[in-house]
Amino acid sequence: MNVLITGGAGYIGSHIALSLLQQNHQVIVLDNLCNSSPIALTRVEALSGKKITFHQGDIRRRADLNQVFNQQPIDAVIHMAGLKSVNESLQKPVKYYQNNIAGTLMLLEIMKQHQVNKLIFSSSATVYGVPEKIPLCENCDTGNTTNPYGASKYMVEKIMGEVVDAQPELAITALRYFNPAGAHPSGQIGEHPEGIPNNLLPYLFQVANGQRGNLPVFGDDYETPDGTGVRDYIHVMDLAEGHIQALNHLKPGYRHYNLGTGQGYSVLEIVQMFEQVSGKHVPVDMRARRPGDVAICLSDPGQAKKELGWQATRGLEAMLRDAWRWHTQNPQGYMGSETL
Ligand code: NAD
Ligand code: UD1
Repeated sequence: MNVLITGGAGYIGSHIALSLLQQNHQVIVLDNLCNSSPIALTRVEALSGKKITFHQGDIRRRADLNQVFNQQPIDAVIHMAGLKSVNESLQKPVKYYQNNIAGTLMLLEIMKQHQVNKLIFSSSATVYGVPEKIPLCENCDTGNTTNPYGASKYMVEKIMGEVVDAQPELAITALRYFNPAGAHPSGQIGEHPEGIPNNLLPYLFQVANGQRGNLPVFGDDYETPDGTGVRDYIHVMDLAEGHIQALNHLKPGYRHYNLGTGQGYSVLEIVQMFEQVSGKHVPVDMRARRPGDVAICLSDPGQAKKELGWQATRGLEAMLRDAWRWHTQNPQGYMGSETL
């Protein structure tokens, strides 16, 4: 298949590109590089021994999308392009709604114009807002979101359901990721957030390599076994394989699936496992709860297993080992590495 990945130069998109190439699909990437480097794609090409067709452009621009769809036939789209910082979305909601919602509307319009009917969308467990029960299954309530980023994912899912009602030939699957982590085991591609990391693992790695003094632990008084927050971390390669399975099972209609492991780990369990894997000591600093955090966020991944034949196979140790390998081999991310 010719598969277009919007946002394919990013953290998760680059891993999906690699998995697709390894399954002998043709990969076309459209990315404006606002949060990524084209070197990720060069590395994917080197790892796979195959070529990617790369277009630098913006999903909000009709001309950019038309250029991509006119250049080669597209069989399916994996729509990853979007902004993903919860904090930034609270400061700049218009920017988030513009990018994540208006960009998706433009993509849907151009797909219709070019009669492309297959779409996989990067959604998030954030659509569940404060969990109504644990573990979260697909028919739990959604929409009780607490920030514009989460609201944008919820609204896009809703829009996609309505568009499918109006265009029954469309096959759309939204994948709700829990907490993506890890990197390709080669250490060649991975995640490198700019500035001070908001998320646990990137922060922890920077403490471990001496860039930061200690790891703030946000809350030790939650109703969890050790009082710290519990999350369902999922290896990015498992996520990538989930997209391939979703693509293989696409059929007309709108569907959504959790992509998680169903297994939760607390902040302190993560620190402990990381210390074992890396041999590094990570000093922690117990702080107050972070506003907006919940005690536990955990998936029931049963529906994806039943309907897509997918389940995560990599555990926490592999996530931490692979991410740490990427981090130690690329302390500045893609910066300072070879140019194109
Ligand atoms: P990322 O920032 O690494 O990748 C997103 C890519 O989209 C980047 O390469 C960026 O340059 C590109 N992009 C952004 N706006 C664009 C636009 N208007 N036009 C073209 N390209 C654009 O993030 P990621 O972690 O790989 O996330 C990918 C998707 O998965 C996002 O939609 C994100 O919201 C979603 N998601 C991520 C997580 C996570 O924790 N990483 C969790 C749930 C959902
Ligand atoms: C956040 C986003 C979610 C996004 C996900 C991955 C919110 C409400 N949700 O999830 O939409 O999909 O990131 O990008 O922001 N922690 C610390 N110290 C730190 C950082 C985090 O103790 O320095 C704790 C948090 O309190 C939480 C756990 O680690 O218990 C995981 O936090 P984080 O990695 O930020 O992910 P989420 O908050 O679960």
